[in-house]
Amino acid sequence: MRIRDAGRRDRPAVPRAEFHPAVSTVDPALVGRLAELALLHAELGAVRAGRPRLIIVEGPAGVGKTALVGRYLGEAGELRTLRATGEEVEALLPYGVIAQLVRAARVDVPDSLRGLDAPTSRSRDPITVGAGLVELLGTLQNGPPVGLVVDDAQWADRPSLQALLFALRRLEADRVLTLISTRDSIPGELLEGMQRLVANGGGTLLRLTGLDAAAIRELGILMGFEQLSLRTAERIREHTQGGPLHVRALFEELPLEALEQPADAPLPSPRNFSALVLGRLAGCAPETQQLVIAAAVLGLRGPLSMAGELAELTDPFPALEQAMAARLLKVHGDLHHGVISFPHPLVRAAVYHDLGPVRRIGLHAQAAALVENEASSLRHRVAAARGEDAQLAADLGAFARGEAGHGAWASAADALLSAQRLAPTPAERHQYLLEAVEYMLLGGDVGGAMAHTDTITALRPSPRRDYVLGSLTLMTGRPEEAERLLTGAYELCDPGTDRRLVADLAVQLANLGLTRGKGAESATWAARALDAENAEDGMSLLRSALTCRVAGLTFAGRASEGLAAAASLPEASADLDQPSVDGYLGRGFARYIIDDLAGACADLAPMSTVFRHRGPAYLAVSALQFLSWAEYRLGSWDDAILHGGLAASIAEDADQFWLLSTAHLGACAPLAGRGDWEAAQVHADAAQRAAALVGLDGCGTHRAREG
Ligand SMILES: Nc1ncnc2c1ncn2[C@@H]1O[C@H](COP(=O)(O)OP(=O)(O)OP(=O)(O)O)[C@@H](O)[C@H]1O
Ligand SMILES: [Mg+2]
Repeated sequence: MRIRDAGRRDRPAVPRAEFHPAVSTVDPALVGRLAELALLHAELGAVRAGRPRLIIVEGPAGVGKTALVGRYLGEAGELRTLRATGEEVEALLPYGVIAQLVRAARVDVPDSLRGLDAPTSRSRDPITVGAGLVELLGTLQNGPPVGLVVDDAQWADRPSLQALLFALRRLEADRVLTLISTRDSIPGELLEGMQRLVANGGGTLLRLTGLDAAAIRELGILMGFEQLSLRTAERIREHTQGGPLHVRALFEELPLEALEQPADAPLPSPRNFSALVLGRLAGCAPETQQLVIAAAVLGLRGPLSMAGELAELTDPFPALEQAMAARLLKVHGDLHHGVISFPHPLVRAAVYHDLGPVRRIGLHAQAAALVENEASSLRHRVAAARGEDAQLAADLGAFARGEAGHGAWASAADALLSAQRLAPTPAERHQYLLEAVEYMLLGGDVGGAMAHTDTITALRPSPRRDYVLGSLTLMTGRPEEAERLLTGAYELCDPGTDRRLVADLAVQLANLGLTRGKGAESATWAARALDAENAEDGMSLLRSALTCRVAGLTFAGRASEGLAAAASLPEASADLDQPSVDGYLGRGFARYIIDDLAGACADLAPMSTVFRHRGPAYLAVSALQFLSWAEYRLGSWDDAILHGGLAASIAEDADQFWLLSTAHLGACAPLAGRGDWEAAQVHADAAQRAAALVGLDGCGTHRAREG
């Protein structure tokens, strides 16, 4: 590539002879953004005074979010910064972002934050991880204020965002400044949760738009143009919307004469950033182009050796050197680690999207064989798929079931959504979608599941469709409709072949009975579920048939019968494996009712740990809530307040609308008992809102207020 230099002062030439990783990472000076910087400084002032603040920096790609945050941190003074960056290719890697924050802390961290990089962490529960983060931030409070920075949050993995949101909601007087930058596409409800926090006075939403003409002029001058008229700067602004990435690229590529055309002539091509990048790529040797293209297929960042192999280069270093000089690639961290990355995601996007489909597909297919882990390999196979692919869909389905088997519901659901797009027949597509939504519900992602409501409603009715839709309706607090769907589905089911579905339906109907206080009805449904579970392949993923049986009988005033049904269970423990967790929660509840409070705690404490770690979220809420009641009556008020509050916040964070009002009521009682009226009032109000949301009469909440 030739750097034109008309109209510029001298500037350091890009060294080419010698390998010099630092060159491409030097950040140019920041222009403009004074108001934004002032605002950030004011927020840090608030943090120093003991008010945690959350700032969401939002804006389109390349507008300067990362640059603004970087500049700010550079001048913020004493701040202990923990940084993480969302990575497009890692969006499915659970807790990737939290793991980065934890690493940056360089202190001894709570257990719940250890080993987040390990594959087993995927079944960890966001609430536990979020609580760990609160604890970690607490221990860092002795030093300077903490800066928690998550860049490119639109690519952050979901569990990390859930955990982060949980933690941010729980900061009180902690000196923590959280900066989240995003291309305004954080998965809906999580961004909403963060924005709610901001709207409730917890921070500021900073919308970044392009640079103005004065700043563009300043940038031009900084980049070596001796004179640049404001008129030219204004034209560039119109041409680029002030996007700094694009403005800088124009300044790098074009001489002053080209920029200062008469006002009616359009600015010369290249008109957009991709064209600029592709122009640089075209100026490189064929091997360099191959390397850059291979890297783009592999992702934003990856091992040089793998990109070299994919590009079929025996020695990738000369190509890397040229790509770096052309600002197409850079070395990520230390050269010895052999990791390369793109200087900006838009550079990768330009290269990637310019590939013709045949070449792109071919490279993804080769990449699938090169990468090590199964999830990445599947991702490349998905990108390499030419339309329908029954085998790949089946492989994704099998992978998903494996993930679900150890409670990695989100990862399972994602794989199934890909399978759904690849499956050849409508019947298979529907099957995969329904299974995906079922896993979302089990993982406590009601918001994500709700996004598919219309599609599922439009499917031809079938027992499975009605089961999923019925569960969704139940959890969003519409019990009548849920009952119609679930009983209809149950009647249509073939008990001989659909054993697991029969069990699932019966458990949901038992749950429905419990939420409406119909104990005997619930116990009957639970007995049907247990019958179905006795058959091979009949085990419900809801894992609560026996619990519903015991709780239903207890609700019906037959606690001793309930306890007899659970008589064969050993003592509870937090190490129970997934298939054997059923029953303890029900027994804990029955013990509570017959005043065996210590016995109740012995069941409920381990079970609340198990369900918080592995889901389903609704069982975590119930276990914590009953545990809190038992502790309250035992006089362990601190524990009761802690667990009651946790139940309410899990119900909130996992959108468990059907349990929300009772969970808040439960959280209210021990606080009121202690005379902490203000905190109790917050839960009483929340309970009433939740009750109104699902159409309950709210009389319970009135009682709570009076209490
Ligand atoms: N105010 C500014 N002055 C000068 N250069 C800037 C400014 N803001 C950003 N830049 C430059 O523009 C480019 C894009 O900026 P940046 O990477 O911060 O954008 P971004 O909004 O974070 O993009 P993305 O959404 O892709 O993460 C960078 O090269 C950066 O150095
Ligand atoms: Mg950025």
